Amino acid sequence: MAQFSKSMKKIAIFTSGGDAPGMNAAIRSAVRVGIHSQVEMVGVIGGYSGFLEQQCQTLTPRDMANIIQRGGTILKTGRCPEFLRPEYRKKAADFIHQQNFDGLICIGGDGSFTGAHLLWEEFKIPIVGVPGTIDNDIWGTEMTVGFDTAINTALEAIDKIRDTAASHDRLFIVEVMGRNSGFIAAHVGLAGGAEGIFVPENPISVEKIIEKIKNGLSRGKTSSILVTAEGQKPGRAYDLAEQIRKKSGFDAKVCILGHQQRGGSPSASDRILASRLGAAAVTSLIEQECDVMVGVMSSQIVRVPFADAVSKEKKLDKDHLNLAAILST
Ligand code: ADP
Ligand code: F6P
Repeated sequence: MAQFSKSMKKIAIFTSGGDAPGMNAAIRSAVRVGIHSQVEMVGVIGGYSGFLEQQCQTLTPRDMANIIQRGGTILKTGRCPEFLRPEYRKKAADFIHQQNFDGLICIGGDGSFTGAHLLWEEFKIPIVGVPGTIDNDIWGTEMTVGFDTAINTALEAIDKIRDTAASHDRLFIVEVMGRNSGFIAAHVGLAGGAEGIFVPENPISVEKIIEKIKNGLSRGKTSSILVTAEGQKPGRAYDLAEQIRKKSGFDAKVCILGHQQRGGSPSASDRILASRLGAAAVTSLIEQECDVMVGVMSSQIVRVPFADAVSKEKKLDKDHLNLAAILST
């Protein structure tokens, strides 16, 4: 968390990393609150690449019409490997100075915030982050923009898979996103009544799951759904299916939900969260506090130093997993 002394006349906003439903609602809120406070608002296009390729445009309140309900991001997003190198960050900083941006708002995940923290550390560019990722894996905020919509999308798919699993007496392994974090899997697993949940934070053995399936069969349970987080790369569900087949002879169908989890109209919760956080980011810059992410804890808006948000690990609640295990017997 840092204080600076500069009044906000022009703020640039951008989205970075994987898109998340609700990013548009956050942009809309920041732009309208900024303009309401007599700040000129500019959108940088395509994440950090937009600074290197000098792609930006002034945003008006009218540009924000009809986007609160739209998934994706009107500012485009992406990954910009060059930004890991100091010479490219210097190039971005030169563009920021040349455009007279007094402050920046970055909507993204912890990778994007690492880049944002460096912009402050290296060039003293005031920057504030809005947590926008379906993974919900950012320390310092209970929820990230996009998580609620993503788990509802995944849940809808699981409910449908359960219909066909029950009709055919089948075992399914459903793989959800989240990279190395198991928040999506744990939440969807509990809400969807999954018989087993595989998350990187709390590894369980395939043998234990096989035993659970066998117990279920002996009690007349003829179909099961296992939910797995993808881990480092998509396809983990196929490895699990193979292990289960080898160790038990059970044939498991694999369903990888993939990028559909990132799209779609944001839920009411995500629109509200995004609207609150977009506004909070502008307020933080106007109040001359930067190098922070705005988040929500116990329903209250908080400002969390980037250094903490990117270095501390948000813990998955083990009670949540234990409850899911008890409820799915
Ligand atoms: P997310 O923000 O969703 O975690 P990424 O981890 O892919 O997504 O990061 C998004 C972008 O943020 C990267 O493509 C890169 O431009 C920037 N970034 C990530 N890590 C760093 C880093 N260590 N230093 C500077 N920039 C980074
Ligand atoms: O971080 C968001 C996320 O959707 C992860 O859950 C997933 O592992 C990754 O992005 C996928 O990235 P890409 O769209 O580049 O395949």
